[in-house]
Amino acid sequence: MEYRIEDVEGIINHWGPKPASLLQIMLDINHKYHYLPRESLDVVSSRLGMPISQVYGVANFFKVFSLTPRGRIIMHVCTGTACHVKGTPKLLDRLKQDLGLNPGDTTEDLELTLETVNCVGACASAPVVVIDGNTFADVTPNRISKLAKEATEKKEEV
Ligand code: FES
Repeated sequence: MEYRIEDVEGIINHWGPKPASLLQIMLDINHKYHYLPRESLDVVSSRLGMPISQVYGVANFFKVFSLTPRGRIIMHVCTGTACHVKGTPKLLDRLKQDLGLNPGDTTEDLELTLETVNCVGACASAPVVVIDGNTFADVTPNRISKLAKEATEKKEEV
């Protein structure tokens, strides 16, 4: 989604331009764009009368926030011991081969972000992949390739 100052102003007005609203405002902006555009933080700082360093401090402190664009779909590939032993490296190789993604990367069309996670508590089903909260078990390289394709196609239909 393209950044629009009117959207950010609307979020600020909704919660009220006061320091106590900072976290909720940042959550809403992050939810809308899947990250915190730098321009939006300038607006927040100015409207709330807070130093920009304080706004960035909050953005950097909470893991939920990202200062770089993220995809509409987040794919977490488990790199815990059980998943690693059962084939996670091959899954990551396949995503690199198919989409050119390394962990932490986002596709250019902002559809998909690849992240890794250390164990999601489903070791018996290793290797495990979680896509937008849905868990997939015993994932093979062909399956992860198909999952990535299906996930992005499904979102485009919405
Ligand atoms: S190591 Fe992957 S779910 Fe536990």
